[in-house]
Amino acid sequence: MRISFAVKGALLLLLSPLFCTIVIGAPERDPLPPRVPDKERAAAQAMKNPVAASPESIAKGKGLYEGKGTCLKCHGATGKGDGPGAKLVRPAPRNMTNPDWQQARADGEMFWIIKNGSPGTGMVALIPSDITEDDAWHIINYVRTLK
Ligand code: HEC
Repeated sequence: MRISFAVKGALLLLLSPLFCTIVIGAPERDPLPPRVPDKERAAAQAMKNPVAASPESIAKGKGLYEGKGTCLKCHGATGKGDGPGAKLVRPAPRNMTNPDWQQARADGEMFWIIKNGSPGTGMVALIPSDITEDDAWHIINYVRTLK
């Protein structure tokens, strides 16, 4: 009897994080440490966004974010990281409304992540499979409006 209680307890302990992940989603990994690998970071940070953040570019970026870019599926309609697919990835998608994260990232670092993905996470490379490099710069102009 005692043993089976212990086994049940252990099973519950093991399964509860899994349950939480499925039902309420995984937590976001600390967003502030850089995601671009050390040896590529300086070059990424030095990249300038070649597309001016005009109202036209921001509107185009929004359309791409919600459409063929598929960003909305994970990052959510308002960028909080709460899209319909967010529960399926661990760690959770970035909350793009976080002003500290926005300040910590250069446009070029966001571009690097969209092009290469964030290694070991659900953030996979989306250029050239889903969007072009030019599309990504428009999306970044839109992402900057979410904070
Ligand atoms: C399948 C889900 C998924 C989709 C689709 C997705 N992302 Fe992500 N994204 C993630 C996850 C998960 C992370 C967190 C990765 C981490 O913590 O390193 C993330 C992180 C990011 C980051 C932050 C990286 C950093 O430096 O902190 C940016 C920028 C980003 N995504 C942009 C986009 C854009 C733009 C799109 C659409 C073109 C997109 N993502 C589509 C899941 C997704």
